[in-house]
Amino acid sequence: MSRTVDVLVSGRGSNLRALVDAGVVPRQVISDKECEAIYWAQSMGFATAVVPFERELGRDAFSDGIFRAVTRVGEPDLVVCAGFMRILTQPFFRLKCPVVNIHPSLLPAFKGANAQQMALDAAVLVTGATVHLVTEELDAGPIIGQIPVWRYADDDLESLQKRILEVEHKLLPFCVQALMRGDIEVSDGKLLVPRDWTQKCMILATEGRG
Ligand code: GRF
Repeated sequence: MSRTVDVLVSGRGSNLRALVDAGVVPRQVISDKECEAIYWAQSMGFATAVVPFERELGRDAFSDGIFRAVTRVGEPDLVVCAGFMRILTQPFFRLKCPVVNIHPSLLPAFKGANAQQMALDAAVLVTGATVHLVTEELDAGPIIGQIPVWRYADDDLESLQKRILEVEHKLLPFCVQALMRGDIEVSDGKLLVPRDWTQKCMILATEGRG
């Protein structure tokens, strides 16, 4: 019985497309608003749902709405936040399955929005992308995979975002497929990774680099 995955999106959907290009078939795609990602998912024939964020109702009501959209057809084996830009609170975490997110920095550095700008402002030599387990604490869950991206002296926000996005599109499918195959397990919120997992991430990071 193959494992099922729901994908949460908010915008452009480039990470969703990278997942699908890598052979991941979403059980459903859910977003907080009508967006390019949802329109693309509909054009691909995937089940979709939009749960609008209503500021006056607050995060708990929104998180409950996302929980209900995910579980309307039963729990998936995995939920992936792919460019999902909303904070999820306790009502969402009634989910039993693991939830993973792609973040455009080497966590724990540069949590939250604007991670790429913060890396530029800090003039770091290296930043990158992280896939991590999602917990109630923002961008703080156990780290599954990372790929470094060097900051060039002439980088601006656009050039750095572009290079980080390129590695996101490699890292997220790599980690999601490992979870779907059972190479990586999550037990009581703890990650169980294969002994050679770091080497596998290093190889992934160097693939396709001249
Ligand atoms: C990506 O940089 C991702 O890391 C962040 O949202 C950005 C857009 O992602 N969470 P996408 O193109 O919508 O997948």
